[in-house]
Amino acid sequence: MSQERWSEVDVFIEERLLDPDPLLDEVLAASAQAGLPAIALTPAHARYMHLLARVHGARSILELGTLGGYSTIWLGRALPSDGRLVSLELNPRYAELASANIERAGLAGLIKIIVGPALDSLRALIAEGTDPFDFIFIDADKENTPEYFQSALELSRPGTVIVTDNVVRDGAIVDADSQDPRAQGMRRFHELLGADRLGPRRVSATTIQTVGAKGYDGFTLALVER
Ligand SMILES: C[S@@+](CC[C@H](N)C(=O)[O-])C[C@H]1O[C@@H](n2cnc3c(N)ncnc32)[C@H](O)[C@@H]1O
Repeated sequence: MSQERWSEVDVFIEERLLDPDPLLDEVLAASAQAGLPAIALTPAHARYMHLLARVHGARSILELGTLGGYSTIWLGRALPSDGRLVSLELNPRYAELASANIERAGLAGLIKIIVGPALDSLRALIAEGTDPFDFIFIDADKENTPEYFQSALELSRPGTVIVTDNVVRDGAIVDADSQDPRAQGMRRFHELLGADRLGPRRVSATTIQTVGAKGYDGFTLALVER
């Protein structure tokens, strides 16, 4: 199977299952115009995240990696009117554009973007004694994913769902000697999850491989048990 076919199938799915959404089209266009990299979730994947948050009845969401706010808006739309979403972004320029996009989506009252390295922002949230989140989406720099996951656990409660994106990396996670620090990050992430199985289990997790317009990758779904 080819990338071309995977992309065609994503278009097929979008045309049949996703409603036209001029606002989200504008968000993507504004992001492209501002020179942001085209690394947001695909529409089908973003809708999957939205549905997962709704299925879970999430009232509070933490996101790592805002970019232009595309996934943030999809997740924000899954919240009830008194919900809250905190999104962490390193790049102030991206965060500024995301804020404008979120405002345009009418979600500014629910969503707060914290600018800075996610590790620092997570430390600050933990130190402040922030209430645990119901749903956490890890989609920032891939190298630090194991550290992000450990911090996410500190911001969780039993029942919190943690989704981590881009964990398969074209299959490179099986290459022990991969020179790609992002693939190594995802190997360490899986080793961390594997080690958790050996002690008093903190999470139950699985990884699903995916193909689509963004190639061959995958995500990990983890349920916090205690
Ligand atoms: C894959 S993109 C996020 C895509 C977004 N979730 C979406 O689907 O629309 C990753 C984002 O993480 C941000 N990032 C990279 N390193 C970071 C760090 N150390 N702390 C916080 N954000 C970081 C990047 O600037 C980028 O915006």
